[in-house]
Amino acid sequence: MPKPLLIDTDPGIDDAVAIALALAQPEVEVIGITTVGGNSGLDHTTRNTLRLLELLDRTDIPVASGASEPYQRQVKAPAAAGVHGHDGFGGVDLPDPVTKIVSTNAADFLAEKIRNSSEPVTLVALGPLTNIAHLVDAHPDVIALIERFVIMGGAARTGNVTPVAEFNIWHDPESAKRVFSSGLEVVMVGLDVTNSLKTYEHLWDWLADAGKFGKAYAKMLGVYTDFYSSFYGERMTHQHDAIAVAEAIWPNCTNPQAAFIDVECDSPLTDGMTVVDVNMRQGQKPNAYVCWSIDGDLFHQRLMTALQNLAKTIN
Ligand code: BDR
Ligand code: CA
Repeated sequence: MPKPLLIDTDPGIDDAVAIALALAQPEVEVIGITTVGGNSGLDHTTRNTLRLLELLDRTDIPVASGASEPYQRQVKAPAAAGVHGHDGFGGVDLPDPVTKIVSTNAADFLAEKIRNSSEPVTLVALGPLTNIAHLVDAHPDVIALIERFVIMGGAARTGNVTPVAEFNIWHDPESAKRVFSSGLEVVMVGLDVTNSLKTYEHLWDWLADAGKFGKAYAKMLGVYTDFYSSFYGERMTHQHDAIAVAEAIWPNCTNPQAAFIDVECDSPLTDGMTVVDVNMRQGQKPNAYVCWSIDGDLFHQRLMTALQNLAKTIN
């Protein structure tokens, strides 16, 4: 029996890879997707989700849009346009969607899906945590109903937007602080794991013979790889969001350790830093897990096999 999975996301090129992984795996059934502003504005992330589901022949999955603005502050200057392109999808040539969203209130949509699911739901968040902060504010009863909550976000050690802050948390630190203090146990798949694994460009060579799917993903991943190449000097990418989805599908594959995690919101120097304490020196109780590592060969084998199988189903 597949486990029900809800995805909150800001596509985003690595989000597109992560969504495809979730759709391809029989262990989980994606019962809904919500969108948030992050890598690009909410209009783009919602449009990208809908046109991606059309490409993947999965318009049966309901999509709800959520927050365009962070929880308590204004959007900072767009930091991700250079990574994901002006439209969040590297300018990929996918048609405008004809499918419509089912709601503009992601928090209400998520709560309803969580309450009405016959099996406890896993929720995975691949973007800023704005929608999830609104969810725990408006519907605190669902916290106890969520089986596992996995995020791509944060870093115990080194950030990517600043020396200490990771993009998803940095974009909306107050929402992350709210979520970490909400009682919802967070499995934090942060840069400690995702930056440890390089997905070299040659691993995507098969896309050239993978039809419509291959054409779209090759274009997006080409743009994403160009960014990494200019920044890190290597033709590789970090598949941040797919690693978080892997943790959601295969629990403990990223080696979680219990921790107390809080978010810095007041310091200009360390804004958006996830402060991770695995020793509980101040006597706190753990509110989260921090993930440290992944078997890269196994992950790549699972990811590529899943996407190759998915590509074969698409005409
Ligand atoms: C995260 O930020 C975004 O650019 C990616 O989609 C990922 O979710 C990595 O820091
Ligand atoms: Ca993302």
